[in-house]
Formats: sequence, C-alpha cells, structure tokens
Amino acid sequence: MELYEAINRRSSVREFTDEAIPEETVKRIIGAAYKAPTNDHFRDWHFIVVTDKAVMREVLDGVPKNLTVKDVDKMTFISDPVQKGAYQFAVPKQYSMLMDAAAVIIPLMKKKVDVLHPAGLSHLNCFASVWCSIENLWLAATAEGYGCNLRIPMDGEEEQARRATGFPDEYMIPCFIGIGRPADGAVRTKQLVADMEKQLHWQRF
Ligand SMILES: Cc1cc2nc3c(=O)[nH]c(=O)nc-3n(C[C@H](O)[C@H](O)[C@H](O)COP(=O)(O)O)c2cc1C
Repeated sequence: MELYEAINRRSSVREFTDEAIPEETVKRIIGAAYKAPTNDHFRDWHFIVVTDKAVMREVLDGVPKNLTVKDVDKMTFISDPVQKGAYQFAVPKQYSMLMDAAAVIIPLMKKKVDVLHPAGLSHLNCFASVWCSIENLWLAATAEGYGCNLRIPMDGEEEQARRATGFPDEYMIPCFIGIGRPADGAVRTKQLVADMEKQLHWQRF
C-alpha cells in the first residue's frame, strides 16, 4: 500500500474478527516502529506482544470492564457533539477493543528522566520518540490490512501489566495497542475535520 493511502486509511479500530495475526507480520510491523526518529540514537524500546488470551486477561485486568455511555457525561472536557459521539462509542469498548484483538502490543520506553514531572520540554524527548514509533507501527499495520486501537494506561493498569509480564521497573508503558483484522462493518468514529486552510500559516501566524 502506498504511504498516503495508509495514512488516509488509518483510523482507530475497536472491533475485530477472530483471525490470528502471523508472527512474521508482527515482526514486519514492529520493524517499522524501529525506523522511527529517536532523540538519543538508542531506540531502547521493547515491545511485548501478547496473543495468549489467558496472559492478555491478566495484563488487562486493571482496565475498566464495565464503562458505559453514561461515564462519558462525567467527562467535563468534552464540548463538541462529534467529539462526544466518538467518546460514547469508544469508552464502553476500552476493555473489549484490547481483549478481542488478535494481539495486544505493549511498547516500553526506558524512564531516563521523570517524564511525569519534566524539568523542561527536552525531558519529554524519549516520550515523543516512542510515540513516533507507535505511529510507524500503526501505519505499517494499516498497510498490512490490520487495524489498531490505543489505550493510555490509567491508575494501576501499568503496574498490573508489569506484574503479568515481568518487565523491569526502569521501563514504562506509553499505551496499550490492540491489533487485529477489522470486523466487517467495524465502526470508524466520525471525526472533526481540521480546517487546514485556516490552520496552515505561511511565513507568519
Ligand atoms: C495520545 C493518544 C491517546 C489516546 N488514548 C486513547 C484511549 O485511551 N482510548 C481509546 O479508545 N482511544 C485512544 N486514542 C485514540 C483516539 O481516540 C483516536 O485516535 C481519535 O479519536 C481519532 O480517531 P482515529 O484514530 O480513528 O483517527 C488515543 C490517541 C492518542 C493519539
């Protein structure tokens, strides 16, 4: 698939078929993640690929399982009806979108600085770099005909995944990634379209 086609086709997929994902495909996709730009030339990212449903269940045990559209009403930062519609679809699926995926990929980044209390913008470089790798992974998955979703771990979710998989304390999880073959008619939530004509500036703002 051509690059712009993959970029245009990429969207969050939260409903999957039961099809497994071949190991070789996972390796190609993660190979693309390692081609991402990096702040310090190390790319000391690890990726844990969980395909075994029993391990997946353990990894995801901290993810809320019973969220409903009513929980979206408590999210006071939501102001726009399109944005609200997207949350109303996504929020109740936070557990199933990962649990029903062919694999949950857990990217890991080394905590070289305190990214939760950065002393300056450059202290977030390692975090920014791992997110570049996540976008590469997502685009490669799209080009391979797979779909992905993301969840940012909240509260004890990271610690639960650490207990389940045994990754060392010096690593943190930027997000969980669910990957699989999109189900027939898998919903792609409506998006607000950014008005590039208004938001693109030449020479001066
Ligand atoms: C930094 C970041 C955090 C996100 N966190 C979540 C999340 O916790 N749960 C979820 O379902 N989607 C999450 N998403 C996916 C967004 O909801 C999604 O990308 C957005 O609605 C745009 O839709 P699209 O991916 O279909 O273009 C996240 C995306 C990004 C970039």
